[in-house]
Formats: sequence, structure tokens, C-alpha cells
Amino acid sequence: MKRVGLSEYACLTCHVNAVASPSASLDEQSSRSSQPSEALYFFLGAIVILLILLILLFVFRKFINPSKWKKFVACTRKQPVTKDILSGNLCTISWFDFQTLKRATKNFHQDNLLGQGGFGPVFLGKLEDGRLVAVKKLSIGKSQQGESEFLAEVRMITSIQHKNLVRLLGCCSDGDQRLLVYEYMKNRSLDLIIYGKSDLFLNWSTRFQIILGIARGLQYLHEDSHLRIIHRDIKASNILLDDKFQPRIGDFGLARFFPEDQAYLSTNFAGTLGYTAPEYAIRGELSEKADIYSFGVLVLEIISCRKNTDLTLPSEMQYLPEYAWKLYERSQLNDLMDPRMWMVEKDVLHVIHVAFLCLQPHANLRPAMSEIVAMLTCKVEIVRTPIRPTFLERKGSKDEKNSWDSISEALPSPLKSDSPSYQHPK
Ligand SMILES: Nc1ncnc2c1ncn2[C@@H]1O[C@H](COP(=O)(O)OP(=O)(O)OP(=O)(O)O)[C@@H](O)[C@H]1O
Ligand SMILES: [Mg+2]
Repeated sequence: MKRVGLSEYACLTCHVNAVASPSASLDEQSSRSSQPSEALYFFLGAIVILLILLILLFVFRKFINPSKWKKFVACTRKQPVTKDILSGNLCTISWFDFQTLKRATKNFHQDNLLGQGGFGPVFLGKLEDGRLVAVKKLSIGKSQQGESEFLAEVRMITSIQHKNLVRLLGCCSDGDQRLLVYEYMKNRSLDLIIYGKSDLFLNWSTRFQIILGIARGLQYLHEDSHLRIIHRDIKASNILLDDKFQPRIGDFGLARFFPEDQAYLSTNFAGTLGYTAPEYAIRGELSEKADIYSFGVLVLEIISCRKNTDLTLPSEMQYLPEYAWKLYERSQLNDLMDPRMWMVEKDVLHVIHVAFLCLQPHANLRPAMSEIVAMLTCKVEIVRTPIRPTFLERKGSKDEKNSWDSISEALPSPLKSDSPSYQHPK
């Protein structure tokens, strides 16, 4: 057997290597030749995916309204929080996101401020679809009312709809912020017209239309809606007017966002004192009859075109219900009517008579709202002569307490039985 020397072995290995090297270079070649085709597949795949995405984007933009999509996303995001309380039905109310309202009101700019009430400032806003809205930034925070309670109240208010009530379009809850979005009323609020801040003049038929509309709105709140709602703050600034000067009551149900004691003794309460029924102001007794008292004061304001309390006037004229009663006793009620107004005197006297019935000192002597509507539309005849109303006077902040006490003494206790103030025509 031939022994293989080291040098020969090295040669052999070289040979084997020399034999093996053609196949290795073939592999390399084949792998090199396969590389461009894989890259090509990747490239083509990426282009296809990109195309699909572009088509989807196009379809989405063309057929799906982005604002509706946002609402849908917001709804699905919020639903778990409120599911129990709202029975998973939150999508029946519109949910606005804070950024949308910020944009709509130009970042809550002062130029957009419509007014500031006891519940917080109100801003004019323009939504992306061009709709005008009034955005109320509630002065409550998370600490006072949790999000789920807030949404439950919003849903409750949204469910109450009538042609003489301002429509709540939706709400927003973002961190500590709570906002309500209402339809914007073109002719703003009644106070701006009847207190002489506007050039607009309302003739008698428009004023009567407003009085009757408010009465109908209140009748719905008190008697006809599925919930019994006492407004608590009927006054000229809470009566909004649409483009045809049809009245709509605003801010109903708002007291529900605030704790009971706070709603009753809000900072705004003092400003509204002239409208407040004596039994509510002094004893905190709240019923629909408190709204009816405020309605009586408002009717006198609409007829006379002045505020219920005006300390710049001669002393006997300062408190409107008191002054009206004095004129009634002297048979000079004509002096109460806005002198610019053309009207049939008998019609106005009829409405003033109804207002006096609303101002009766005993809550149970005041007619219910449905009776008031019937009297205003002459479906029933007024048979009762009103007695002297009780007036609340605010003599100044220092002796405020004394003045309230003295009224409290003067306030009669409630009567046991109702006295009929009207009868159906035979
Ligand atoms: N939906 C609306 N459309 C148009 N203007 C509105 C609307 N809501 C409110 N305003 C305006 O904003 C003003 C402020 O309203 P806000 O309700 O905050 O105050 P207020 O009525 O004076 O007091 P309160 O807080 O007791 O209701 C109103 O006087 C009215 O002119
Ligand atoms: Mg208001």
C-alpha cells in the first residue's frame, strides 16, 4: 500500500477543494440570482399594500363623515363608564369633544361670550358643519358631580322636548370641565329686548305670543312631560327667542347638576330675588307654584317693559308687582303698559288679571299652569278677584337679614284648601 506523504496530502486536499469549489460557486450564483427576485416581491407587495391603504382612505373620506366618526369613537370610548346608569344608550345624546368646542368658540374667546349666569359663562360657537350653538361651561367640577351622574342628568334633560323649550343638543365632559351645548337662539334672550338694551320693539301680539308660549312651556314641564320639573329660575334672561320671536324656556333642569342646598342659595339667587315666590325665598318650600309666581312677575315685566326691581325709579315705582297693585287699586292700570305699544286695552287688562292670580301670597291660591293657559286663551272665564300679593323687598346688603325676617313675619301660612279662580264658560 502506497503511503501518502504530507506534501501529497496537502495536494490531495487542494484537489478536493479544487473539485468542490465549482459547486460552491454555483450555489453562490444561484443565491445571487434569487436575491433580486425576492426584493422585487417585497417591493411589489409594499406597493400593493400602499394602494389598498390609499383606496381605503379615499373610501373613508368620501363616504364617512369625519365628525360622525369622531362621535362614534367618543361614544364607544365613553360607553363603559356610563353603561349601568344609561342602560348603554348614551348614543341617543350627542357627545362633543372638548377640542371641537374649543375650536367652535375660538378658544372660548371673550368676543364669543354671550353672557355669564349663575351656572357659568355661555359662548357662541360655530360647529364644523356651520351650525350655531350656545355652549354653557358649567361651574361644576368632578368633585361635585361624577361623569356618570352628569351624563345621566344630560340624558334626562335631552329627553324633554317641546316647541317652547330650548333644545339641549349634547354635552362634553373633559377632565374637570362640564359643558352643555344648546341650539343658538337668533334673537337671544328677552331681557335684552324688554330692558331697553336693544333697538327691537315688540308689539302687543308678539308680547302675547311670548307670554302664551312661556305658559305652554311651563305647562309641559309641570304637567305633561314624563318627569315633573320645577324650573326654579323663570326670568327674562331665561326666555330665549327664535327667529320668529317664538319663546323657548332655557336652563330647565339645570338645578339638577348642583347639590340641592347650593341650587337654592346660589350666588345668582340674590339677582333673581324679585322673581322668587315668598314661601320659597323664606321657607325654602319649593313647588310648581314657585314657578307660577315668577311667571306672574315676568308677565308684568313684558307688559310694562321694565325690570321687576329698579331702585333708580321714584320709591312707589321701584318694585313692579307692588306698583302694579297700587295702580290696580287706583284703577290706573293703563299707566303700567308700555306707552309705545298699540293694543286693545281690554286684552292687556285680562292678562294683568291673570298675572295677579299668579302672584297670590298663598301658593295654593295660584292657578296651575294648565289653568293659566286656559285663561289666557279665554277657554275659561276668570271669576276670582285677586287679593293683594306679598312682595319681597331687598333693602340693602347690611340690613338684609332684618328685611327678610320682617317679610317672613308678614308671610301668611299656607291655606288648607284651594279656592277656585276660574270657571268654564257655560
Ligand atoms: N341658547 C342660547 N341662544 C342664544 N343666547 C343664549 C342662549 N343661552 C344663553 N344665551 C345668552 O347668554 C346669556 C347668559 O345666559 P345664562 O343662562 O348663563 O345667564 P342668565 O340666564 O342671565 O342666568 P342664569 O344662570 O340664572 O340662567 C343669556 O342672557 C342669553 O342672552
Ligand atoms: Mg340662563
